[in-house]
Amino acid sequence: MKRMRRIVLYGLLAAGAAAIAGIGIAADDKKPSTTIPVPLGLLPVQWPEDNPYSAEKAELGKLLYFDKRLSADNTISCATCHSPAHAFADGAPVSTGIRGQKGGRSAPTVINRAYSLAQFWDGRAPTLEEQAKGPITNPIEMGMKNHEETIAKLRGIAGYRKLFAKVFGTEQFTIDHLAKAIATFERTVLSGNSAYDKYKAGNKKALSAEQIRGLDVYLNKAKCDQCHEGINFTANAFHNIGVGMDKPYPDVGRFAVTKKDADWGAYKTPTLRDIARTAPYMHDGSQKTLEEVVEFYDKGGLKNKNLDEKIKPLKLTEAEKKYLVAFMQALNGEGWQKIQEPTKFPE
Ligand code: HEC
Ligand code: HEC
Repeated sequence: MKRMRRIVLYGLLAAGAAAIAGIGIAADDKKPSTTIPVPLGLLPVQWPEDNPYSAEKAELGKLLYFDKRLSADNTISCATCHSPAHAFADGAPVSTGIRGQKGGRSAPTVINRAYSLAQFWDGRAPTLEEQAKGPITNPIEMGMKNHEETIAKLRGIAGYRKLFAKVFGTEQFTIDHLAKAIATFERTVLSGNSAYDKYKAGNKKALSAEQIRGLDVYLNKAKCDQCHEGINFTANAFHNIGVGMDKPYPDVGRFAVTKKDADWGAYKTPTLRDIARTAPYMHDGSQKTLEEVVEFYDKGGLKNKNLDEKIKPLKLTEAEKKYLVAFMQALNGEGWQKIQEPTKFPE
């Protein structure tokens, strides 16, 4: 059993190494590239059929992602809550949007969204394209009245008319074009080549002795990979681990989307890549440190009427808790750091 579980994780990582070796990277550099190289440990990015990669589209998406004019009063961009300075999260328990308004959930990182199936903590957006339209008209995030208003505002900027025409062949661009551009950019925000990936690729010195022990605890005693598995350390499924379930009116999570009892209080298993850089933790930002997270799991999560059966007291020793945290620190990766906020925006 132990062995099997290992093989699953290692097998996926070997495939990731193949990606680095060049599969998926356009060989003929005279042709425009149809995909991007990925850091060690990741698989080639899958581009949707109706939204293939192009460098110009990703560049346009990046401008839109960082442009505060996507908000009603020109103060908030996507990057306000998903900032490169915080590994594409925002470092706060819950986010602050337009006119200082706070929401009830924590901003997840935008890194490695290319490998995610559904978006949001409750998975209510099936694609990145769908997701990107939400925050713009959310009254407590970017506060635009509607998508018509957003598009009219952007069409009024000559520089954007030119860029959309170049990428999509029309100056009469729509919210769908905008969403496609932003989603393309997001799929380029990657994290791999961590100490862990180097270790897997054969550099046995890449992990410290503590981290190697932490990997063993992760896979065997704590079995964290029952949910946090594969190249992005998530099976993209939804589970109730108990966070916030002791409140008088708990956030029902996935239940609001599916109305199935089994989804009550369930949330999407998040990636653990760059996890040491995206505190605080959980959908409500209620856990401040990785030590606190490990304590939470060690106690068996928080009992409630729908606690996942995989969540049980772990009986970890103090040393094992330390190793587990050390292992998670080995998941700090590289890739997204190359993305810098544009210094000039279309006018
Ligand atoms: C005011 C802060 C704020 C702004 C502005 C904002 N977001 Fe978010 N974002 C959040 C929060 C909070 C969530 C989680 C909400 C939830 O799950 O219900 C989220 C979720 C996401 C997710 C899902 C990630 C995942 O792991 O499921 C993506 C992708 C994302 N935002 C991208 C964007 C883009 C693109 C923009 C700009 C168009 C944007 N965000 C603007 C706060 C913000
Ligand atoms: C039953 C599935 C499951 C298991 C097993 C599991 N997790 Fe999680 N993990 C989740 C879910 C779901 C969340 C999000 C919960 C929420 O926000 O309410 C989460 C959240 C986290 C977070 C916070 C991530 C963030 O971005 O805020 C960390 C860190 C974490 N888990 C580490 C671990 C470790 C370490 C183990 C093993 C001791 C583990 N998990 C075992 C499902 C699981």
